[in-house]
Amino acid sequence: MRLGIVIMAAGKGTRLKSKRAKVLHEIGGRSLLKHVIAAAAQVVPPHDILVIVGHQAEAVQYAVRDTGVRFAVQTEQRGTGHAIQIAEQATRDYDELIVLSGDVPLLRPQTIVALRDFHLQHRAVMSILTAEPADPFGYGRVIRHSPGAPEVDAIVEQKALRPEQLGLREINSGIYAFRREALFNHIGQLDADNSHKELYLTDMAGILHQAGERVLAIKAAHSEEVLGANTIAEMMMLDRALRLAMAQQLMAAGVTILQPETVMIDAGVEVGPDTVIEPFAQLLGQTRVGSDCRIRSYSVIENSTIGDHVLILQSCVISETQIDKGAHIGPLAHLRPGCHIGEDAHIGNFVEAKKTRLGKGSKANHLTYLGDAEIGSGVNIGAGTITCNYDGVAKHKTVIGDKVFIGSDSALVAPIVIGEGAYIGAGSTITKDVPADALAVARGRQVTKEGWAKNRRAQREARKAELSEQKTGSGD
Ligand code: UD1
Ligand code: CA
Repeated sequence: MRLGIVIMAAGKGTRLKSKRAKVLHEIGGRSLLKHVIAAAAQVVPPHDILVIVGHQAEAVQYAVRDTGVRFAVQTEQRGTGHAIQIAEQATRDYDELIVLSGDVPLLRPQTIVALRDFHLQHRAVMSILTAEPADPFGYGRVIRHSPGAPEVDAIVEQKALRPEQLGLREINSGIYAFRREALFNHIGQLDADNSHKELYLTDMAGILHQAGERVLAIKAAHSEEVLGANTIAEMMMLDRALRLAMAQQLMAAGVTILQPETVMIDAGVEVGPDTVIEPFAQLLGQTRVGSDCRIRSYSVIENSTIGDHVLILQSCVISETQIDKGAHIGPLAHLRPGCHIGEDAHIGNFVEAKKTRLGKGSKANHLTYLGDAEIGSGVNIGAGTITCNYDGVAKHKTVIGDKVFIGSDSALVAPIVIGEGAYIGAGSTITKDVPADALAVARGRQVTKEGWAKNRRAQREARKAELSEQKTGSGD
C-alpha cells in the first residue's frame, strides 16, 4: 500500500481580512502550513506530501521551501473539491490518500495515524475525521446513517443545514482518508450547486455513499486539535491553546513556569529542567535554554542559545545570541544579533551589544555600547564605555585583549586594538592602538585653581549689591 498526503493550502482566507494568505499566518510563532507539514512529515516522508498552493502561491512555496514537500498549483480557487482534482496527476503513484487542510494546525501525527489505520482496517473508500467541539457553528456536519453508526450518508455545510439538522453537533474536520482510485473515479460528479458556487470536497461523502461505497467517520480523541482557523480571533484561540500546551509539556519535563498563561513560548523552544520562567517572559523562535536558569519577567529572547545556570534579569531583549553557562544579563540589557557572551560574564543594565564576543568572566555592567567587538576574558568594561564602530560609511572592529581594564566613559574609536592587560584611563577617547600592559589616557589635563570658586562667589555678591543700590537710587 502506497500512501500519500495532500494538504489543501490554496485558499485566500477571505474571512481573515488580511493581505497575507491564510496558511502563512502564524500561531505559536510558526505558519499554519508549517504546523500541518510538520505533523504530516511524522507519518510519511516529505516527498510523499503534496501541498496544493494557489493564492500567493510563490510566497507560500517560499515559506516552506526547506521542508522537502512537493507542490501542485490550483490557479483558480474553485473550492476544496477542485483543489483535489488538481492533485490527480501528482498523486497517481499512491493507493491511498490522506487529505489535510492547511488551516487546521493543531492536528497531531498520532491522529493522522489513527485515521489511516481506521481507514485501512475497515477497508473504507472515504474516512472522515470528525469531532464534537463546544461550538459547531460554521463547520460542515456529518450525517451518520443512523446515530452512532460508523457509516456516513453525507456531509452538509453549515449554510445548507435544514432546520431539523441545525442541532447536529458532529463536525467535519476537513481531514479525510480516501482510496485514491474510487475518489478520482467519482470526483467528476462534483458540481457547484451551492451558496459559494464552488466544488465542495465534502460532497464526495454523499456521492460515494450513493455509489454504494463505504464512507465512514472516526471521531478525533481531542476535539481541540481539529479546530480550524478562519478568522483572526479563531487563530488567536489556537495560538493560545498551542502555547499553553507547550508550557504544559515543559512543566512536565521539570521547568517551572510561573503564571504560564502570561508566558509566550513558541513551538520548538527547548528548556532544560529546573529552569524558572517568570510571568510575561517570551521565548521565541528557535530558542534553547539550558537547565537551572532563571528568566525573569518581561525578558524577550528570540532565536538564542542559553547555557545552564544563566540568569536573565528583568526586561532584557535578546536575539540571535549565544550565552554561555553562568552568565548574568540585565536588567534592561539589549543583546542584538551575533553576540556571544562567555561563561560567567556579566552584562548589566542599559548595555547594548551587537556582533560582540565577550570572553569568560568579563564584565560590562553599566550604560555601555559594544558593537563589532572582540573582547577577551577577565576584562572590565567601565560604565559608559562606547565602541565607536561606525564612521558613517563602514563598520569597524574593536579588539580588546584579556584582562584589559577600560575606565568609565571611554570612547574607543574603531578600528582599534587594546593589547592584553592594558589600562585605559577614565574619560579617554582612544584613537590609536594601545600595546599590551600599557596605560593610555586621552583626555584634557586637570587644572585646579585654589580659592577660585570662593572669589567668584564674592564677586557676584558684590555685583548684586551694586545693582540693587542703583535701583533704589533711580526711585528719587
Ligand atoms: C471546510 C469544509 C467544512 C469543514 C471545515 C473544517 C468544505 C466545502 N467544507 O470548510 O465541511 O467543517 O473545512 O475546517 O470543504 N482550499 C484550497 N482551494 C480552494 C478552497 C480551499 O486549497 O479552492 C483550502 C484552503 O486554503 C483551506 C482548506 O482548503 O486550507 C479549507 O478551505 P476553507 O475555505 O477554509 O473551508 P471551510 O469553509 O473551513
Ligand atoms: Ca477552514
